Amino acid sequence: MPKPKAKSPAERAAELRRELDEHIYRYHVLAAPIISDAEYDALFRELQHLEAEHPELLTPDSPTQRVGGYVSEKFVKVRHPAPILSLSNAFNADEVRAWFERLTRLDDRVERAACVVEPKIDGLTVVLHYENGLFVRGATRGDGEVGEDITPNLRTVRTLPLRIPVPMTDRKRRAAVIQPPSKLVVRGEAVIFTKDFEQMNAALAARGERTYQNPRNTASGALRQLDSRLTAERPISLLCYQIVAAEGVTLHTQWETLDYLRTLGFPVAQAGRRFESLEEALAYCEQWAAKRDTLPFEADGMVIKLDDLQLAADLGFVGKDPRGAIAFKFPAREVTTTLNAIGVNVGRTGVLTPYAVLEPVEVGGVIVKQATLHNFDYIVEKDIRLGDRVMVKRSGDVIPYVIGPLVEARTGVERVYTPPAQCPACGEAVERLEGEVALYCLNSACPAQLTRSVEHFAAVLDIETFGEKVAAQVVAAGLVKDVADIFSLTKEQLLELEGFAEKRAQKLLDAIAAARARPLNVLISALGIPGVGEVTARDLAAHFGSLDALMAASVEDLQAVEGIGPNVSQTVVDWFARRSNRLVLKKLEQAGVWPTAEVRRAEAGAGPFAGLTFVITGTLPTLGRDEARAYIEARGGKVTDSVSKKTSYLVLGASPGSKLAKAQSLNIPILDEAQLRALGG
Ligand code: IVH
Repeated sequence: MPKPKAKSPAERAAELRRELDEHIYRYHVLAAPIISDAEYDALFRELQHLEAEHPELLTPDSPTQRVGGYVSEKFVKVRHPAPILSLSNAFNADEVRAWFERLTRLDDRVERAACVVEPKIDGLTVVLHYENGLFVRGATRGDGEVGEDITPNLRTVRTLPLRIPVPMTDRKRRAAVIQPPSKLVVRGEAVIFTKDFEQMNAALAARGERTYQNPRNTASGALRQLDSRLTAERPISLLCYQIVAAEGVTLHTQWETLDYLRTLGFPVAQAGRRFESLEEALAYCEQWAAKRDTLPFEADGMVIKLDDLQLAADLGFVGKDPRGAIAFKFPAREVTTTLNAIGVNVGRTGVLTPYAVLEPVEVGGVIVKQATLHNFDYIVEKDIRLGDRVMVKRSGDVIPYVIGPLVEARTGVERVYTPPAQCPACGEAVERLEGEVALYCLNSACPAQLTRSVEHFAAVLDIETFGEKVAAQVVAAGLVKDVADIFSLTKEQLLELEGFAEKRAQKLLDAIAAARARPLNVLISALGIPGVGEVTARDLAAHFGSLDALMAASVEDLQAVEGIGPNVSQTVVDWFARRSNRLVLKKLEQAGVWPTAEVRRAEAGAGPFAGLTFVITGTLPTLGRDEARAYIEARGGKVTDSVSKKTSYLVLGASPGSKLAKAQSLNIPILDEAQLRALGG
C-alpha cells in the first residue's frame, strides 16, 4: 500500500481552519460541541503555530483572526445593495387580520398564502457581504440606504461565519455541501444572549466596574467601537433572517431562505415556523407572547411574513415598510411606579450595589418589587430621587432596571439620595477605590461579604450541596467566621441548623472533606482575591507553585507573570498583606488545605513561537520591553535587536524607530501587541 503523503503546512492549515470553523459553529450556533475545550484549544494553537511559522498562510478568514486590533478614525459609509426596510407594527391579532385583509384586496393570491413567523429580535441590524464565500464587509443599517462599515468589529463576533459554507464533516451535512454564491448579502441582528449578558454584568460588578443596562445597547455600543479589541470583549452573537442580495442563487420563499442560511452556517433563530393559514400563525404568535422570557435573547414581538417572496415583492411597500410582513408586537414591559427606598447589596468583593425598592407593580405577568440601579453614579446621573415616580423596564429574563425618573410627576416631597458612608451589613466605613465607580466595604469580616465569600468559596471548590442558603445559615449561626472555618464544621454543629438531619449533615461533611484535595489554582481562585479569576489563578499557581511563594511575592514579582498587569499585582499584594486574610490562610494551612503545584516552565524548543525570531520597536500598550521579551521567550521564541531577513515578525508599538522602515523594505510581517498575544495563545 502506498504510504499516505505527509500534509504540507498549507494543507494542514486549511484543514485546521475548516475543523475549527466547524467546532466554533457546533459550539456557539448548535450548542452541541463534539470535542472538549482543551481539544479545541490544541487545534487552535496548532493553527496559530503554523501561521506564525508560515505567515504567508495567514488568511483574513482564519479563526485566529477574531481577536480584533484595528483602530480607525471614523466609520466609512457603505451603500446597501437594496434598501434595508423596516416593519409596520400591529399591537393585537385584529390589527394583523386587518393587515391581511388589506393585502387580500390588493392581490387575491394572498388569501391562500402561507406565512412564516419568526421572533422579532431586539438587536442591532447588520448587513453582511460575502464574495465567493468570504466575509468581506459588514455594515450597520444606518438610514436604510447607507450604513457604516463596521467590518473589523463584526469579525470578532464568534457566530459570524468568516467563510461560507461553514464546513461540516458529518455525512448529513456533507450531502448538503453547496457552492457558495458568488455574491451574497445577508441581514441579521447582532444581539447578546440573556445568559451571556447576566454573566458579563456579574463579572464587571465583581471587579467594581460599570455594568451595562441592557443587551441591545451593549451590543450596539460594542459594535460601534473604534477599537475592535473592545468589541471582542463583549459576548456578541448573531441571528440572520434575510437575504438582501444574491448572485448565483435564487430563493423563492422565506422558509427556503431560512433553511439556506442555516445550510451555509449562519445562525438562525430556532423559533421560526411556517403556517398555511394566518390564524395558525397568529396562534403561534400568541403562544410566544405568553412565554417570551424563555427565548434565549430579547424579542419585542414576532414577525409574520408572507412566505412567497415574489408575492411579497409584488405588493411593494408603504414608506419604508414592506407590505408583505408585519410585526406582531409584544406588550411593552416598561411601567411606572414609585421608588419607595434604595437598598444596598454587599457583594463578595465588598462592592456595594444600590437597588430600587419599588411599589410592587405588574410587568408582563410578573410582579416586580425590586430593580437594579447599576451603581451610585447612575443615581446621580439620572437624578433619581427617593419617592420619585420612576420608569422601570423588565426585558427578557434580564434583571429589571430603573430607566429614570418622571421629573414632571414630582410633587416636591422627593428627596435626594445620599450613598451610605458605612457598610449596611457591618457598619465599617465604605471607600471608593481610585478609578472605579463602585463603593467598597473593605472589612473582610463583614457578615454580608462573608456569606457571599463562603458561597463563592464553596462553589469554586465544588462542595456539593453547600449553596447560598447553607452559607447564610452557617454565617448567621456564627459557625463560620471566615472561609477556613468550613473545614472545621462538625456534625453536631450542622445538626443544630434548620433542615439538617444525620444524612444531610454527613453528605455535606463528605463533600467538604473531598474539597481538601483541590489543586492550588482552584484554591487561589476560591479565595476571591479581586481581579483574580480562574485564568489568573491558574497563571499564579503555575508561576509560584505554592501559597507560601505567592504570599511572599512583591508587586514586581507578580508583574513578571505573563498576563498580570500592575493593577492586579498591587491588589494581590494588598490582599495578602491584610492581617485578616493572613489569619484565614494560617487556618487553612493548619487545616491541611495547602496544595502545591509543579512549576511548569516553557521547555526549550516548545511553544507557539518555537523557531521564530522577533524584533520589537516602539512602546507597546501594556507590555514593557522586558515583559514582551519574556512573553516571547516563554513561548519558545527568540528576540533580537535588529531586523534582518531572518526576522519572523516585527512587533510594533507607538513611536517606532527605523526598524519599521527596514522591516517594511524586507516585507517582514508586522504585529501589534494584541496580534502578538493572539499568536502566543
Ligand atoms: S424582517 C423586509 N425579521 O426589526 C424585511 N426584521 O422594526 C423587514 N428585526 O430593524 C425586516 N427580527 O431589523 C425582520 N425576524 C426578523 C427580525 C427583524 C428583528 C428587526 C429589523 C428591523 C426591525 C423592524
